Amino acid sequence: MEKIYASMKSIASYVPKNCISNADFEKILDTSDEWITKRTGIKTRYFADDDEDSSALGVKAAEIAIKRAGMQSSDIDLVICATLSPDYLGMPSNACLISSRLGIENKPAFDITTACSGFIYLLSLAKSFIESHTYSNILIVGAEKISSILDFSDRSTCVLFGDGAGAAVIGSTKNENERIVDVNISANGKYNDFLMTPRCLGTKLHFSNEFSVSQVDKIHSYLKMKGNETFKLAVKTLANDVKEILLKNDINIKDVSYFIPHQANLRIINAVGDMIEIDPSKVVITVQKYGNTSAASIPMAIDDIYKNGRLKKGDLLLLDAFGGGLTWGSSLLYFNGE
Ligand code: ACO
Repeated sequence: MEKIYASMKSIASYVPKNCISNADFEKILDTSDEWITKRTGIKTRYFADDDEDSSALGVKAAEIAIKRAGMQSSDIDLVICATLSPDYLGMPSNACLISSRLGIENKPAFDITTACSGFIYLLSLAKSFIESHTYSNILIVGAEKISSILDFSDRSTCVLFGDGAGAAVIGSTKNENERIVDVNISANGKYNDFLMTPRCLGTKLHFSNEFSVSQVDKIHSYLKMKGNETFKLAVKTLANDVKEILLKNDINIKDVSYFIPHQANLRIINAVGDMIEIDPSKVVITVQKYGNTSAASIPMAIDDIYKNGRLKKGDLLLLDAFGGGLTWGSSLLYFNGE
């Protein structure tokens, strides 16, 4: 069989309209803009409307990604969505909801749950499916409405996260300089209690729905995080993971056009950047604007440099992510969008 490579043909994102500043949190919590900025780098994040679920955010990003790939929905033969905040817990999957709203029928669609590493896991799956000639054009979507699962009385978590979506079309190429070079994924469930949504229901649950507040209180639980332990493990794991993928592919950090890490905390990004000795001007940072949007964070950051004209076809991207599970991963790829 002819050798083909998986290739990122487009990137897109969608940011919901409600901008929440650190000052907004000062009104409801014992916190300050100074603490949040100093400890995380975050200044603002965006929250979706009540009637805007994570799949709706995903559809908006997906429509742009398909258009930018020069395709139509009918060209897509697989849809995969990464989310920790699906519309419904269990079923239907966000991928099925997104497919349906895009008019894609009788094509496979499924979700994955790897928290903030979602986009890297999506790349790994898409690369395997393309290079094994199983599918031709795969829509991958990271879509999150984390505001639905935040405990707004827990200052150590609720100030960190935002809503949003990112999407990409992964197709094939015969040109090595347009390929997804490599994807590393890994996990260690030993640390499962570092980041959890114990007994959490889907984002369709609103306080105004059929549940009374007292019932919701009993069954609804929120995102919980052992922040400090996660922070330390994230820095060490990410730096090692990135060094490993560069070494394995014999690529020098100087040849990387942009380093696009998961946007959880500016201090993690800077620490990893220092450890891998990358030129700081090549590090893409959006955490100050969007906060941590989990599976949507990396595609939103890639789209940020695409939209402002910094990202060009042929640029070599180095991605890394770390999240609940615990899961982590990295990728090297040549961007192949127009
Ligand atoms: N405002 C003011 N004070 C606060 C706030 C806040 N919003 N949040 C915590 N504090 C206080 C704590 O109560 C604590 O006070 P104490 O010393 O009196 O007990 C103090 O600040 C220090 O708390 P730490 O948790 O030690 O602070 P740290 O410097 O570790 O920062 C943070 C916390 C921002 C959560 C950081 O640990 C972090 O970013 N962790 C990693 C996040 C991450 O990488 N997650 C992975 C991906 S997420 C996913 O997969 C969904």
